[in-house]
Amino acid sequence: MVSARIVAVDYYLPAGELTNEHLSIQFPEWTVDKIAAKTGIRTRHIADAAESEASMAVMAARALLDNNDIETSSIDLVLLCTQSSDLSRSAAATVQRQLGLRSGIAAIDINLGCSGYVYSLGLAKGLIESGVAKNVLLLTTDTYSRYVNAADKSVRTLFGDGASASLVAGSAADTQHLFAFAYGTDGAGGNALIVPNGGHRPGQDIAPNSTADNRGLVSNGFDLFMDGPAIFNFTLNVVPGTVDSILRKAQLRLDEVDLFVFHQANAFMLQHLRKKLGIAPERFFISLENSGNTVSSTIPIALSEAQKQGVLQPGMKVMLLGFGVGLSWGGAMVQW
Ligand SMILES: CC(C)(COP(=O)(O)OP(=O)(O)OC[C@H]1O[C@@H](n2cnc3c(N)ncnc32)[C@H](O)[C@@H]1OP(=O)(O)O)[C@@H](O)C(=O)NCCC(=O)NCCS
Repeated sequence: MVSARIVAVDYYLPAGELTNEHLSIQFPEWTVDKIAAKTGIRTRHIADAAESEASMAVMAARALLDNNDIETSSIDLVLLCTQSSDLSRSAAATVQRQLGLRSGIAAIDINLGCSGYVYSLGLAKGLIESGVAKNVLLLTTDTYSRYVNAADKSVRTLFGDGASASLVAGSAADTQHLFAFAYGTDGAGGNALIVPNGGHRPGQDIAPNSTADNRGLVSNGFDLFMDGPAIFNFTLNVVPGTVDSILRKAQLRLDEVDLFVFHQANAFMLQHLRKKLGIAPERFFISLENSGNTVSSTIPIALSEAQKQGVLQPGMKVMLLGFGVGLSWGGAMVQW
């Protein structure tokens, strides 16, 4: 049996930073400590004008390839998850060229936000275990800072730019390394986290409360709108049921999971989820202090950090769970 697994994971954060000190000067009613206490974030990285989703993905991929001695010629499929792509050329195609990957390979963009890493892992598994690909370069990358209105403190304190790269490859094995996938979608709730005028359509009819005027903002019409309490409630509603269905599919109990690595949306919401689920803090990895919410990159950044810190060890059973924009959610078990 061929079993797909995550062989290695790495990430890239742009050099530019937006710290709580910067934000607190602009929004004095939110002190440095208040932002840190509420969000768990002290700094976010912001792509400069010369950077793009594709160039950040290339940087993450170079770190992965160099640090793990992976030959570019071994890559036979690129899956790139982003919501910041060029309208015409896919970011995956730009990455294929800039990394010097072979031309006889597939390179595909996937449009998903905070659930995107789990969905991309599921796709990579299917492609590998059905014999379509052997070595999948899985990239996540977003420049959400370009959608964030500088005057909108609620989203500006949360989101940062970043990219990740994972090598997902198949090997002959008796055990499954990526398993018990559980997915969900609620397009009806999508207005709670949206760029209202995205997709070349007038946005007022899809998200009436999200216009800049209603938010007291001066806008170019392409700002990210977030209904924080609606997203919070959505997450509290769907995450416990998804955890249950992953455990059922995996035939595991909650206490048999060694580590939980959820989408790093913000610490306030993650702690609520952790308590509601009854998970001990030492088994629930939180790592967003230095990067913020980097959309589909938060889970692989957290995995990489957990590995560097020695928290994530070979053989561990890890539950991944992503949730957010769409609305979309998905989780799975990883045998590390
Ligand atoms: C955004 C969110 C943190 C706000 O929390 P909340 O408790 O509902 O916020 P409220 O508006 O009721 O404000 C409560 C207090 O927190 C403060 N606060 C809210 N957001 C804050 C932030 N980002 N930084 C600092 N303080 C914040 C408020 O000023 C208020 O302070 P006060 O009690 O001194 O007046 C919460 O709704 C949430 O986690 N939503 C999900 C958002 C998210 O993660 N989106 C991305 C998903 S992919």
